[in-house]
Amino acid sequence: MPGKPFVYLDHAATSWPKAQGVAEAMSTFLAHEAGNPGRGGHALAQAAQRVMDEARAGLAKLINAESPDRMVLTYGCTDAINLAIHGVVSCARCSTGNPAGVVISSVEHNAVGRPAETHRCEGTAEVRLAQCDSEGFVTPEAVLEQCDEHTSLVCVTHSSNVLGTIQPIAEIGKSLRSQFPNTLFLIDAAQTVGVLPIDVRAMGVDLMAIGVHKGLRGPTGIGALYVGPRAYPDDGEPRIACCRQGGTGVLSRDLTMPPGLPSALEAGTPNTVGAAGVVAALKKTSLGSIDDERRLLFRVIERFQNDSRVTFFGPRDPNRRTAVLSMNIDGHDPRELATLLDSSFGLATRAGLLCSPLCHESIGTFPDGVLRISLGPQSTEEVVDAFCDALGAVLSATATTR
Ligand code: ALA
Repeated sequence: MPGKPFVYLDHAATSWPKAQGVAEAMSTFLAHEAGNPGRGGHALAQAAQRVMDEARAGLAKLINAESPDRMVLTYGCTDAINLAIHGVVSCARCSTGNPAGVVISSVEHNAVGRPAETHRCEGTAEVRLAQCDSEGFVTPEAVLEQCDEHTSLVCVTHSSNVLGTIQPIAEIGKSLRSQFPNTLFLIDAAQTVGVLPIDVRAMGVDLMAIGVHKGLRGPTGIGALYVGPRAYPDDGEPRIACCRQGGTGVLSRDLTMPPGLPSALEAGTPNTVGAAGVVAALKKTSLGSIDDERRLLFRVIERFQNDSRVTFFGPRDPNRRTAVLSMNIDGHDPRELATLLDSSFGLATRAGLLCSPLCHESIGTFPDGVLRISLGPQSTEEVVDAFCDALGAVLSATATTR
């Protein structure tokens, strides 16, 4: 951004800059290797297949999936969530003839809320909300309260994009498996993959939706759905259906999708250029920097915590949140404030409902939302201090104009 300071505080929307090597890997792939994987045996098709296999294997390793085949590559995290929700609801309805039971938490993003609402409106699912507490935590008890023997799917985000609250996924997974063993557990890991350690097997997760352009600092337009053995057994009836059919490059004579993962749930030419970016991003992923980011965020809290005009949202315990911090400033509309911070101070923040109206209804910030800053591994003390100084200036100006 020549001629204007540019301070990036919006890593929860998308990381910037991307990990070193991502752009180069994508353009090299596009120039030299971009065949259609599984469609033909020539060198370009094989090169593309290798990149797809490498991306799948790297993502599987990152979350401790049973095998790379259980990583279904999608066009992003939202696409993965749509596949999970529509696919599970469709199978449940086929097997019972009744609307599927779906429980979602009250901090879910529209990526979950909207597919669920679509089924509720169409009468294809009965949707219940598991309510969070004031810091955004969803307890196992709150989830279990909404479940019954007809619940096919429970969906909880790993970390709220508004509050940063890290949910007790392993505890919820354990309770669900013991009390409702037929219920599948879906996690939206948009904000946490590449940020927090994830072990789907230890966490009792059946389906996990992953994007790569946030914590992994990879490209947009590609993601994955982890599909565990309870959702798609090696032998036995799958409990998730493919909602988008098409070519897979295998078993082409059949008008039905092939039975094995990942092809069973992947139709059409994949985002191979994105996969090349995923491979490059995974090489630069190092979990563990989150403590520094949390410490930086607490600089903001410490600076303004005694100013009654500033309200912060989310967990007080820094170890139970990711590096996002939402706030409201008395007398300022969050979106207008974000525009002012951008135009006058060169600060890139995000404001409003952040695509998560359910969360705002839960914490009392609907319909105006909040102002959010979110940090990434390259964020520095200077960046955070620039934000604090700008906010300080806005507060002083507000005080003198009153
Ligand atoms: N859901 C993304 C965010 O929180 C885009 O900004």
